[in-house]
Amino acid sequence: MAEQVTIVEVGPRDGLQNEPAAVAVEVRVELVRQLAQAGLRRIEVGSFVSPRRIPQMTGTAELLRSLPQFDGIVYGVLVPNEQGAREAVELSIQEIAVFTSASETFSQRNINCSIDESFDRFLPVMELAKARSIPVRGYVSCVLGCPYEGKVPVQSAVNVSRRLAALGCREISLGDTIGIGTPREASATVRAVAAELPIDRLAVHFHDTRGQALANILACLDDGVRTIDSSVAGLGGCPYAPGASGNVATEDLVYMLDGLGMETGIDLSAVVAAGDFISRHLGRPTASKVAQALAASGGRLSIL
Ligand code: HMG
Ligand code: MG
Repeated sequence: MAEQVTIVEVGPRDGLQNEPAAVAVEVRVELVRQLAQAGLRRIEVGSFVSPRRIPQMTGTAELLRSLPQFDGIVYGVLVPNEQGAREAVELSIQEIAVFTSASETFSQRNINCSIDESFDRFLPVMELAKARSIPVRGYVSCVLGCPYEGKVPVQSAVNVSRRLAALGCREISLGDTIGIGTPREASATVRAVAAELPIDRLAVHFHDTRGQALANILACLDDGVRTIDSSVAGLGGCPYAPGASGNVATEDLVYMLDGLGMETGIDLSAVVAAGDFISRHLGRPTASKVAQALAASGGRLSIL
């Protein structure tokens, strides 16, 4: 039987939060609808953060009210604190994600508090989620490097991951926020965290700034990781990670996993169409190599 890999689609959140102009809620809804129809089962659709900091995510409440509900599809949102979590749970969200960092300076720049303080803010989030049996994922940013501090010790990623798990996060997503790591580094970090936590509680979240994301993912698949974050059309970045580009493109990831004989449940042509939809709307070419190749070959997936 083919091995199953779960893809967590983060384009509607990580992708669109980094766009120079906010994308209308109707367009965000249509993007999520197309992604769901393409077979993506976990989709991070937005965030409840300060609108002064990330105006692009304004309208996440309206988006959640408008999303079509499909059986088996889990919509998630990112929240930094109790205020965000309250908004999310009132809208019957199915998954919440909290986010902190392996680097102190990035934490300060991104969420205006220390790593320790971020954990204090998560306590009421976890209580709200637990009371409603909503699973919480915890992101650790900058696990392979920080735009302000440079190298980040592997032990920092391990410590923060362990603390998130102890707090009650069901899944920990290890983020190479600035896409700086290479496969052996990615693997070393995953292995170090997996020495403390079961590997099936880990996800990887690699930005593709230096073209390393797929190679890093392959290394982590070899280590046993089976949950991978990606972003349709390779959208994404973090406004507090200067120069960081998008996540690995979902289209490219699905193509690679199909080629490896791993099962994702995702229809590649449909996810390419979703990428085409949002790229047209943004008025720029997709960052997905597979989508580019498909367009160049008149839509044929194979060379034969
Ligand atoms: P703060 O800067 O410490 O200030 O906020 P505050 O707590 O005094 O609040 C400032 C204002 O934000 C106040 O409004 C609050 O009401 C409001 P004002 O009185 O000025 O009108 N506020 C909120 N509004 C909506 N929803 C909320 C909320 N909380 C406070 N939940 C805070 C701290 C964390 C809120 C702020 O710094 C912030 O929102 N930062 C944005 C961080 C962010 O979204 N970054 C991008 C996502 S992280 C990422 O991309 C990395 C990831 O992809 C993984 C990876 O790649 O590594 C996940
Ligand atoms: Mg990210």
